[in-house]
Amino acid sequence: MGISEKKPAIDRITRRDFLKSSATAGLGVALAGTALGQSPSQAAPAAAKSADELRVAVIGCGAQGRVLIESMLRIPSVRIAAICDIWSYSRQYAGNYLKKYGHVANVYEDYRELLAAEKGLQAAVVATPDWVHAEQAGACLRAGLHVYCEKEMSNSLDKARSMVLAARETGKLLQIGHQRRSNPRYIHAINRLIREHSLLGRVTVAYAQWNRAKADLLGWPEKYVIDQATLDKYGYGSMTEFRNWRLFKKFGGGPMVDLGSHQIDLFSWVHGTPPKSVVASGGLDYYKNWEWYDNVMAIYEFETKEGTSRAFYQVQTTTQHGGFYETFMGENGSLVLSEIPQRGNWAMREPHAPEWNSLAKAGLLLSESVPIQKSTTKNVYVDVRVTAEAGRWPLPVELAKPAHQPHLENFFDAVRRGTPLNCPAEVAYESCVAVLKTNEAVKARRVMDFRPEQFKV
Ligand SMILES: NC(=O)c1ccc[n+]([C@@H]2O[C@H](COP(=O)([O-])OP(=O)(O)OC[C@H]3O[C@@H](n4cnc5c(N)ncnc54)[C@H](O)[C@@H]3O)[C@@H](O)[C@H]2O)c1
Repeated sequence: MGISEKKPAIDRITRRDFLKSSATAGLGVALAGTALGQSPSQAAPAAAKSADELRVAVIGCGAQGRVLIESMLRIPSVRIAAICDIWSYSRQYAGNYLKKYGHVANVYEDYRELLAAEKGLQAAVVATPDWVHAEQAGACLRAGLHVYCEKEMSNSLDKARSMVLAARETGKLLQIGHQRRSNPRYIHAINRLIREHSLLGRVTVAYAQWNRAKADLLGWPEKYVIDQATLDKYGYGSMTEFRNWRLFKKFGGGPMVDLGSHQIDLFSWVHGTPPKSVVASGGLDYYKNWEWYDNVMAIYEFETKEGTSRAFYQVQTTTQHGGFYETFMGENGSLVLSEIPQRGNWAMREPHAPEWNSLAKAGLLLSESVPIQKSTTKNVYVDVRVTAEAGRWPLPVELAKPAHQPHLENFFDAVRRGTPLNCPAEVAYESCVAVLKTNEAVKARRVMDFRPEQFKV
């Protein structure tokens, strides 16, 4: 097939390699800037059983499953009692990792066997490829478990709908893994600064991007090849499909869905409403072995109480230029955010805007940083004083935890104490519609209007 497949030996796969391959799969963002490299500081010791202990199963122990396991090990009284994965490599990796922290989990290949055998579970965390989320999350809900399921809900809107309905019918909780919804920096920026304090005035435009360097297809260690009968049993045509599922239409939604799902969700959160329309252009222009578009540019229109706002989104897979961040712009200022604070964690004030010093005094912003120095270089023709950017007002909120931990904590708090979920299935379904329809808009090569009822189940 002309595919460049790396086949590292399993015994040479170190934690560093694992994190590297996680980054390729969309995880690096969530991990960088956190306490990685350190052991989970609050790993529950095997003997410590507390009254409010929750027994949890993890279904799907690949790159993201392990990231979630690492975060769960930091949350007190969460016991990972069972794990499931169809790949022995992932089962072994996760099982050994858990053992290191005193969690002896029962290990399964098939989630149906897990659900039949395990009694006394309260919750399941589903981190398998998108196309099996609906089946597995639905089965867990019907088995009486609360479910944390990774984004994107599904690569099919019908299946995503079925998840909302399953949660509603069973009365169990279903949290979807848009972890920025629980990130205290995003909550501060969007709920406190934009909503409560109207820092930006009327929001008129938003921009977000996720640009990533070119990459080879993911490979696998030779001794962990899955035989074809097993691949067939679980619906994968080959090891290439199995490892690179997000690039194939049967299993995922390509970069637009994989990466865009996080950021399009933010557009709706900031505007307080899903989009009214989308127009998009994209294509499979660079890679030979994918099915999904390798680049997409999309423009969404939002109709808010204050008027129309537009949001531009792009995802690129041949350049990492600018990386990944989101910018929300309004008449009085803008906010730049990213899961990695170095890429976005500040506000910028328009010269005519009401003063922000009182917000800084109240601890809602840090004081303005020194404005960009005026250039004195003789080579500069333009008077840079005219175009020099305003100073940055950094946000005062830090996240000293792995990026997914607060979202998992919110889920477990909801299970234990009825705290409202930050991303229940109904909310995630809205962004699932916007994101999946963007791929359709690329294909249709026209503006697609949304009806409000399309976002409801
Ligand atoms: N929230 C985030 O920041 C974030 C980041 C990355 C991935 N994700 C999501 O997490 C999910 C998993 O992504 P990943 O990067 O870990 O993929 P991955 O391919 O690394 O891992 C998937 C795992 O699921 C297993 N699997 C496949 N089919 C299965 C089945 N039917 N039953 C049980 N196990 C099965 C595979 O063997 C593999 O171990 C996806 O939905 C992805 O969109 C979320």
